[in-house]
Amino acid sequence: MSVFNSSRLLGKTILITGASGGIGAATALLFAKAGSNLILLARRTEALQKVAEAVRAVPGAGKVAAVQLDVSDKTQVANLWKAIPNELRNVDVLVNNAGFVLGVERVGAIKEEDVESMFQTNVFGLVSMTQLLIKDFKERKTGHVINIGSIAGREPYAGGSIYCATKHAVNAFTGALMRELVDTPIRVTEIQPGMVETEFSIIRFRGDKSAADKVYEGLQPLVAEDIAEEIVWAASRPPHVNIAELFVLPVNQASATLSYRGGK
Ligand SMILES: NC(=O)c1ccc[n+]([C@@H]2O[C@H](COP(=O)([O-])OP(=O)(O)OC[C@H]3O[C@@H](n4cnc5c(N)ncnc54)[C@H](OP(=O)(O)O)[C@@H]3O)[C@@H](O)[C@H]2O)c1
Repeated sequence: MSVFNSSRLLGKTILITGASGGIGAATALLFAKAGSNLILLARRTEALQKVAEAVRAVPGAGKVAAVQLDVSDKTQVANLWKAIPNELRNVDVLVNNAGFVLGVERVGAIKEEDVESMFQTNVFGLVSMTQLLIKDFKERKTGHVINIGSIAGREPYAGGSIYCATKHAVNAFTGALMRELVDTPIRVTEIQPGMVETEFSIIRFRGDKSAADKVYEGLQPLVAEDIAEEIVWAASRPPHVNIAELFVLPVNQASATLSYRGGK
């Protein structure tokens, strides 16, 4: 038997932010394999459409809607339902995955616009999406919020002050939300990955692929599918089981700053 118990996900509707690549795209494919319906959101339409096509091609996949949406744009978030077909309005799982880090500058040298954009997506966007969905979850007395935190939300490191602050905010928000919902059937999960090789580091280093590659040099990092498996596993537990937190590392990473790089 698959650990996913896909029968629990069959016909469920999953909304994924940041679904145009990396962890979000891998998660969409895995939910599709379990027969779930999908609402895929991201800013880059072309990349998003490619993911939607791949998801639709999965045998047994449910219905799929792909909508261009910037989670940091409050108007776009408020108008989301207008872009979603009626048949997908009853969302069962919200995966708040959209997020990024920009730069490794130290405090004093960080551009204000970088501070703002990281907070706007990683924190305000995640909060706006959760507020939108949670009202509906409460009315329907069902639902699951899965937030993608980070090792950076557990352990601050030099050169990551703003990103670490945003992911600590995600951790605090997720913990408060879980406590608020203790008297409901709504589940709240935070998944905290260590190093995952996606476009994440390329974006951090502003397109410098060789700087990004150095992050993973000498060790085997996680791949997007590893975290997708954790997300789908958490979503497919029996309704009385809430996976509150999952901290997932490559085997040769022990903390944000301690890795063994001789093994690859
Ligand atoms: N990779 C790692 O090592 C790592 C470790 C810990 C945690 N994480 C977290 O995992 C999540 C996914 O990252 P990833 O590794 O899959 O990186 P990725 O490959 O760069 O994917 C990030 C996704 O987020 C989307 N996104 C970014 N800003 C957005 C916005 N304002 N509105 C909507 N979508 C937005 C991007 O799509 P568009 O550009 O098309 O909008 C993209 O689909 C992030 O929250 C990240 O912080 C990653």
